[in-house]
Amino acid sequence: MEADHIALNPSPDNAIAWHAKQLWLLDQRKLPASAEYLELRSAEATADAIREMVVRGAPAIGITAAYGVVLAARTAYAAAGSGWKSAIQLDLGRLRDSRPTAVNLFWALDRMRGLIDSLDDEANPEPQLLQEAEQIHAEDVAANRCMGELGAALIDGPTGVITHCNAGALATGGYGTALGVIRNAHAAGRINKVYADETRPWLQGARLTAWELLADAIPVTLLADGAAANRMAQGGVGWIIVGSDRIAANGDVANKIGTFSLAVVAKYHGVKVMVVAPTSTIDMQVASGKEIPIEVRGGDELLCCGAQRIAAEGAEVWNPVFDVTPAELVDAIVTEKGVVLSPNVEKMRQLMES
Ligand code: MRU
Repeated sequence: MEADHIALNPSPDNAIAWHAKQLWLLDQRKLPASAEYLELRSAEATADAIREMVVRGAPAIGITAAYGVVLAARTAYAAAGSGWKSAIQLDLGRLRDSRPTAVNLFWALDRMRGLIDSLDDEANPEPQLLQEAEQIHAEDVAANRCMGELGAALIDGPTGVITHCNAGALATGGYGTALGVIRNAHAAGRINKVYADETRPWLQGARLTAWELLADAIPVTLLADGAAANRMAQGGVGWIIVGSDRIAANGDVANKIGTFSLAVVAKYHGVKVMVVAPTSTIDMQVASGKEIPIEVRGGDELLCCGAQRIAAEGAEVWNPVFDVTPAELVDAIVTEKGVVLSPNVEKMRQLMES
């Protein structure tokens, strides 16, 4: 990966930054032990950073890819001048191939491509593409703030909540989706306890969600992923609150592996399930969750813990990193356009047409 390490003032709300004409990403692989930014100077390096989890979380991946298009345009215009629209195609493909499940990636790239199509061949495309990328970034933060309020209003507190993976500022342009709701509801006294699943194998819950919440002075209690059912059985948990990587036209929700099990267990215990996601996460082109491509990552993520091999030699591995929760297990989908209760095809269509 073509990148430099530098020391900046790291903060969850500043995990993606355009600074000194380059893209800077807070390296999420290293949090919370160390908080370092990587400087990215090309679309290829940006695609590598997405694939290698320097940046992760659906909206954050989309925003990063939009900035990656700016870097791609700079390279293409420097190399090909008025032929930049042809020269940029390889890099657009690289960004598109970086991760398959989060539809925000394709949403952001399609939006940038729409602008590319409308631009003049002769002029330097960088200023207008940068403006669009910054707009995508700003819109995401505004959507999160709006969803934070809408989601918090659904919680008749005070109650405990469980979140899974990291759907916070680090996973978005800032503030967070699920964690935006938790921030808002905690401040309003509607949440009295936050449980975070550790989220094997990348430990987004233990490393990232805990770091973010504590930075915001919100106490957090970690659970092993398998402990959530037992925790719900003890009482005191009113809601599961999670983000999403892609929501199908019928309201099925793809999210971090383990979300489906949480939702099944929640149903058994009468705990409600809230999915918080901007409309850029909704893919009306896929009829149901069965059509959502689920990323399967390398086996080493399960066979090893860091550099240490933990599994018996010879063990085989299946490592899908997302699963699909059927719409019937979801009580509310919270978007910046409004809340859909008990989602189905018709309600999702109405939301997207509103
Ligand atoms: O593999 P990751 O860390 O990119 O997975 C992230 C998630 O599953 C998040 O819950 C989802 O992207 C929503 S982020 C607001």
